[in-house]
Amino acid sequence: MPSNVIVGLQWGDEGKGKITDLLAKNSDCVIRYQGGNNSGHSIHIKNHYFVLHLIPSGVIYSNVKCIIGPGVVIDPQSLIQEIKNLESIGINTSKVFLAKRAHITMPYHRLLDRYQEESLGDKSIGTTHKGIGPTYVDKISRTGIRALDLLNLEVFRQKLRYNIDIKNQMFTKIFKKKPLSFQSIYEEYIEYAKILSDRIIDAVYEIHDDFYKKKKILFEGAQAMLLDINYGTYPYVTTSSTSTGGVCIGSGIPPNFLGNFIGITKAYCTRVGFGPFPTEIKDEIGDIIRHKGNEYGATTKRPRRCGWLDLIALKYSCMINGINYLVITKLDVLSGFDIIKTCVKYKYDDKIIQYFPVNGKKNVKGIYIDLPGWKQDISHVHKYEDLPNNCKKYIKFIENYLNIEIVLISVGSERNQNIIKNKSLFFRISTYN
Ligand code: GDP
Ligand code: IMO
Ligand code: MG
Repeated sequence: MPSNVIVGLQWGDEGKGKITDLLAKNSDCVIRYQGGNNSGHSIHIKNHYFVLHLIPSGVIYSNVKCIIGPGVVIDPQSLIQEIKNLESIGINTSKVFLAKRAHITMPYHRLLDRYQEESLGDKSIGTTHKGIGPTYVDKISRTGIRALDLLNLEVFRQKLRYNIDIKNQMFTKIFKKKPLSFQSIYEEYIEYAKILSDRIIDAVYEIHDDFYKKKKILFEGAQAMLLDINYGTYPYVTTSSTSTGGVCIGSGIPPNFLGNFIGITKAYCTRVGFGPFPTEIKDEIGDIIRHKGNEYGATTKRPRRCGWLDLIALKYSCMINGINYLVITKLDVLSGFDIIKTCVKYKYDDKIIQYFPVNGKKNVKGIYIDLPGWKQDISHVHKYEDLPNNCKKYIKFIENYLNIEIVLISVGSERNQNIIKNKSLFFRISTYN
């Protein structure tokens, strides 16, 4: 049975949480494989709004096993808070597990993230300040602390001692800041270890066992393609492999476990943080989209930069991820505009190009095709046929450009505000065929 993968195709916040929740209904297991609590995945069910940072968006279903996989970096303070928040509103978290191999975000990672950003000045990335980058740096430097180490306090003590000594040198000598206390961090983390120890598992064997038992497994991506460390708008990216390629690395599975590559795109673009954004709208239309789409970061509350749909970037994302199922979200937000602009070429210095450039300099600008807009509110439409004609033309234009059929259209944040455009394709991903 092929497993499902959900990935964001733009710069994050495409609605991965909503679509994961939708498909989790028929899944046995939802797994996060990269990133950390830099993510904010929102789920809206009737009057309840949930924002998940580390816990997979399958948790709302009490029968779904949720694994925070080996490729994720885990801030235990944030995870414990998230568990408490969910339990306090009656969500059962007893099936939430974390991988022994996952690396642990420490207080010095959060501080390093902040100090490095400060020292970059006007070249800063605009990170979430959650310590994600520095945690991955320690992983690659082979000095990181893993969830496994929280189960052996002597090993944890030694690793923490080594790391604190080095980080304190960096804090005092390079950044001219105060050193951290070994003892208080040690005591804080042994408390976290007590709370989390029963949830720490060998996720690789767990996932393989589930796969061979024909369990329906959904891998939930975080961040998105254009923030990928290798293929995004470097250096304005996050520090993990956000693409479908990252699933195998981040969960210890072979590529042939996977079959359904579900890409999520908004009907327009947004970006939080700095970096190139060829279709950014800097006038009041951008403000209207931000306001209608409630485009404020789910993790940091920062206003998201808004822009028109960028089909060059989207095609590039579909290509790298091998997308065979496409979902479009937030189409409702575009109602009311006379013209919908869609980027099909770039002006790059003085040249016109039709590819996503490696050097994502700021002087790449979108060239657009203007499509007619529609006035009707579509947020309560459930059938594709009932959408306004111009809206269907927009959808067709996207499908033709990408040569991929859209499976599902989301027209509101609520769980049920969806239009299944292609029933047989939707049936395949929801039944894992
Ligand atoms: P994620 O990080 O990809 O899970 O996305 P976020 O949760 O950060 O941001 C998506 C936001 O859009 C959330 O507030 C969702 O509730 C909301 N949302 C998702 N789909 C739709 C939609 O189709 N229409 C509207 N208006 N809002 C949506
Ligand atoms: P979800 O999973 C949108 C952005 C940050 C910054 C860059 C690097 O909710 O889609 P980091 O803290 O990762 O070192 O920041 O990446 N970023 C996101 N933007 N959605 C996210 O997650 C993001 N996670 C990180 O704003 O530009
Ligand atoms: Mg988000």
